[in-house]
Amino acid sequence: MATVHDVRLPTVSDERFLPTSYGLEETAQTLAHYEAWAATYDVEIGEENRYAQPGRCTHALVASGVGPDARILDVGCGSGLSGVALARGGYASIDGCDLSPAMLALAVGTGVYGTLFEADLNEGLDLADDAYDAATAVGVFSFGHIRAGAIREVLRVVRPGGTVVVGLNDHFWDEGSMPAEFEAVEADGIAAVMSREHGAHLPTAGIEGWVITLRKADGIDA
Ligand SMILES: C[S@@+](CC[C@H](N)C(=O)[O-])C[C@H]1O[C@@H](n2cnc3c(N)ncnc32)[C@H](O)[C@@H]1O
Repeated sequence: MATVHDVRLPTVSDERFLPTSYGLEETAQTLAHYEAWAATYDVEIGEENRYAQPGRCTHALVASGVGPDARILDVGCGSGLSGVALARGGYASIDGCDLSPAMLALAVGTGVYGTLFEADLNEGLDLADDAYDAATAVGVFSFGHIRAGAIREVLRVVRPGGTVVVGLNDHFWDEGSMPAEFEAVEADGIAAVMSREHGAHLPTAGIEGWVITLRKADGIDA
């Protein structure tokens, strides 16, 4: 008969997923990563690593003058940490989309989203032009995640004069495709970078990152 010392109580998982997050290359690999991580994502990222970007991105949205009634799409909403921060910032009309059904299931549980739907941003969004007043993309432009060029798709679904806030880590910023794409959309007259702020991303892990605020040009259907 097993003694108490032989018994292992079931645990969700002791695995930590952050260390392998920056080594992802393909969408299928990224999907599998988040399907496996979903159950412990909020604890590892939100609690253990004191994830700062949701709060910073919400602050940037408020500071850019986006009002509480704005219709917001939270791109790559994940388990909903970014949407919960938006709701705490006073926003009431938040939709979300994500690649991972397991992450979306957790987002449903936050109660802060209106519509939630699956989408691969690298393939595009099944949404009309100009559908939202603003969009956020918090921690989703990264290795094997959403590619830099998809910022144009995010801008397409935001109305002319609307706002897009992107929060990303230093590792992906330093890879170079995002700063190059921000310059390119400015050069193409699609949007202007209104602010860029460097600061905390995952403080416990010592990782910092950028918050970039874009304003879509008036009269532009990106
Ligand atoms: C680090 S999590 C960030 C989630 C949430 N925004 C937050 O701040 O906690 C990255 C999210 O991006 C999603 N993602 C990765 N690649 C994607 C893609 N191509 N299209 C849509 N979502 C994607 C993942 O499923 C995951 O939920």
